[in-house]
This record gives sequence, C-alpha cells and structure tokens, in this order.
Amino acid sequence: MIPTTLDLTADPQGIARAADLLRQGLLVAFATETVYGLGGDARSGSAVAAIYEAKGRPSFNPLIAHVASVQAAQRFVQWSDQAQMLADAFWPGPLTLVLPLREGNGISTLVTAGLDTLAVRVPAHHTARALLAEFDGPVAAPSANPSGQISPTNAEHVRAGLGGRIAAILDDGPCGVGLESTIVGLAEEPTLLRPGGVALEQIEAVLNARLHLHQSGDLLTAPGQLQSHYAPDAPVRLNARTRQGDEVLLGFGPVECDLNLSAKGDVTEAASNLFAALHKLNESGRPIAVSPIPNTNLGAAINDRLCRAAAPRDS
Ligand code: TXA
Ligand code: MG
Repeated sequence: MIPTTLDLTADPQGIARAADLLRQGLLVAFATETVYGLGGDARSGSAVAAIYEAKGRPSFNPLIAHVASVQAAQRFVQWSDQAQMLADAFWPGPLTLVLPLREGNGISTLVTAGLDTLAVRVPAHHTARALLAEFDGPVAAPSANPSGQISPTNAEHVRAGLGGRIAAILDDGPCGVGLESTIVGLAEEPTLLRPGGVALEQIEAVLNARLHLHQSGDLLTAPGQLQSHYAPDAPVRLNARTRQGDEVLLGFGPVECDLNLSAKGDVTEAASNLFAALHKLNESGRPIAVSPIPNTNLGAAINDRLCRAAAPRDS
C-alpha cells in the first residue's frame, strides 16, 4: 500500500525522480501521446505484478513493453522486414507491434502472460521518450486506469482512478491523440489486433497489403459478444440522433448536444476528445447517448471503444 502518490512535473528533475522510482520496482504513471500509461520495469516480475494489482486487471491480459528505439525493441523481439517498414513509417508514434520473443529477452513472463510474443512500442511523446532514455530499459505500461474503466487522457483522470495505489504521476497535460495505439500482430500474417491511433488505411498503404482483422471486423457487427471495457458507470447508447429520457448527448458534427467530440465532424479531433468527454459525461450520472460516427480512419478506433463502452456489463 502506497500512502501518497507523488505529483511529478515533467521537467528533468521530475523525470530523473520517475526513472529512479522505476529502478526501485515502483510504479509511475506517465504521459504518452495516446493515453497515460502505468509504467513499471518490464524485467521485474514484482513490478509487473504490482501493475496488475493496482489496475485490478486479470493477469491473462498481456502488456505492451515501451522502448526508446527500434534498436531497443530488437533486443527483445525477432525483427522482420514488415516490422521495419511499419517502424520506419510510424515510430515513434501510436503503433504497437506484436512480434515473436527473442531468446534470452529478460522480459518478465507476466508481461506476456506466458505468450511467446511481445507487444512493443516506441512512443512519440517527449516526456515518455525522456523517461525511457533516463530509465534505459523496457517499461511495461497499460493504460493508467482501473481495469475496465475509461482510459485516462490527463493526470487528473489518473489520480481519480489510481491515486494512493501507485508511487507517482508524471504530469504533462492532456494527451494529443487521445486513443490507445493501434496494435498490429506480425508473428503470423499481419493482423489488426486493436484499432487505434494510426488508421488501418495508413498501415495497409505502407505494407501494400490488407491486414487480417482480428477483433475489429467482428466488433461492430456483433456488439453482444463484446467484453465490456472503457465503461462509464451509466449505460451508453450508440448511433443516437436525439436524446431519450434522461440522457446526455455526446455529439459529432453539427448537432445540438451536451458535449461535442468535433463540431466540424473531424474524426481525428473527435479521437483526441473521446475519453475526456466520457469522463466528463460520466460525472453527470445520466445515461449517455452518442451521435453516429463515420467508420473511416480514426473513426474505426472510436467506434471500437464506444462499442465496448456500450457492451453488456458483467454484474
Ligand atoms: O497507447 C497504448 O497502447 C497505451 C499507452 C500507455 O502506450 N497502452 C495500452 O495498453 O493501451 P493496454 O494494456 O491498455 O492495452 C494493451 C493491449 C491489450 O489489449 C493486450 O491484450 C494487447 O495489448 N497485447 C499485449 N501483448 C500482446 C501480445 N503478445 N499479443 C497480442 N496482444 C497483446
Ligand atoms: Mg487499457
């Protein structure tokens, strides 16, 4: 039990302190361009166990190892030509690659949940990069929210969800992309494992090939099969044109609503506002209706998150 959670400023002193806490096996939430991550030393079983514990996350769900560079990633995974093409195009940035683990990788098996693959990402955010450079090792980091709840896009979200349960929060304002990274599996045929901050269309253009669709293809057609995730407390209703009953309306485009993801109908702007908007409307305690959002570019990732937020909950 950690009695207080330090607030660290994202200056050289704060970053040095954060790296030091990571070296002690403690947990630090830090800003990335996608969402805030809850970081721990990916080589330390006890640090990774503490991540699962702080989030209340089922331990079969593997984590992303954040590294400073392609060279750093290559120490842990078996690299490939396709990995190089995608890294050239999108790293540093909101793309995670799942590749076969290398022998002698030193990554805790709790990070991979026993799989023989590892998810790796080189984040673009200057604070995340500075922290990784200072720590000089792989940082396992899921989104810094209690398991199943809305992802955090600012330090206040992190404090509200995990304050008192982690050593520190490295605050660097709101996240720019606002949606988690896109995850592409390259251990077998290139597969979209999670839509996110880099659009499917962009990835297919770089690979000059279609990606296999793992979850996302099924998600929107079969919402009943979705695991509830990213869930506000109140029910969420999608593709709403108007409010029903007591609902608040989360709008998109030129509509009359309580909060607009993007009045000009820009999916990239909407992505950056999504989680903060859900956090805010959640505070109203009322059911949330959401305008239809086109499924192109980052719209696919937004709809993936919204479908999960609207999915039936375990009681
Ligand atoms: O943008 C992001 O990716 C953020 C920031 C903090 O970097 N992180 C993030 O982590 O979203 P998390 O733990 O919330 O989501 C990681 C996802 C999980 O859905 C997990 O199942 C998948 O990555 N994953 C991790 N390792 C995997 C593997 N070896 N094979 C397949 N999926 C994997
Ligand atoms: Mg998450």
